[in-house]
Amino acid sequence: MIWAVLPAAGRGTRFGGEVPKQYLEVAGRPLIAHALDALLSHPRVAGAMVALSADDARWPGWTQRHGKPVLRCVGGGERADSVLAALRALPDDVGDDALVLVHDAARPNLRGEDIGRLIAVASAHAAGAILGAPLRDTLKRADADARIVSTEPRTYLWRAFTPQAFRRGALTAALEAARAEGVVVTDEAMAMERMGVRPALVEGREDNLKVTTQADLGLADYLLRQR
Ligand code: C5P
Repeated sequence: MIWAVLPAAGRGTRFGGEVPKQYLEVAGRPLIAHALDALLSHPRVAGAMVALSADDARWPGWTQRHGKPVLRCVGGGERADSVLAALRALPDDVGDDALVLVHDAARPNLRGEDIGRLIAVASAHAAGAILGAPLRDTLKRADADARIVSTEPRTYLWRAFTPQAFRRGALTAALEAARAEGVVVTDEAMAMERMGVRPALVEGREDNLKVTTQADLGLADYLLRQR
């Protein structure tokens, strides 16, 4: 049984407005609705656990989508705290060996074909797998005045996307260990890497963008209306 976990407890303050990022609308629906529907419309995904901030007044109260359960829990101060809260809140029949797909609520343009390839690789790889893409731009190291210091080799450098697919028990233990050691991990793979394993990278579509700026919002709107 595979469940989706959506950290959606961010306040999205980088946008400056009062609406948290996951509730901004593209193509007529909030980002989180697109992210949830992408996951739940995949036949292998059984349900979703959404981590919300304690004072979230915008959650539409969904309990089902695509005929599958949508559960909610209270997230934490950092993204990793929200993911850990969601993993702990999953139903008991989601075993320690069950795959979970952790996906940012702010990534609305996820395709079923990417979910399917990620699940296939993660199922065959004990250390789990994540979607990503090799770096395409030339990489510069700069000083504090934005003057170029050097050109960095980009061979073997990838950008990390979501979903990230790991076994529930192993990911819970890895996030607990990072927290106990005071390390803020910025994705799930980083927590797993710290446990000494090597998650697989699955090349995904580059239009699976994370909405962070106004320009991203416009691009996501365009991409979703083309589908
Ligand atoms: O801010 P950023 O784009 O890195 O957030 C990625 C995802 O993590 C968003 O869906 C956001 O709502 C979520 N998040 C969370 N709990 C936090 C911070 C961010 O669930 N404390």
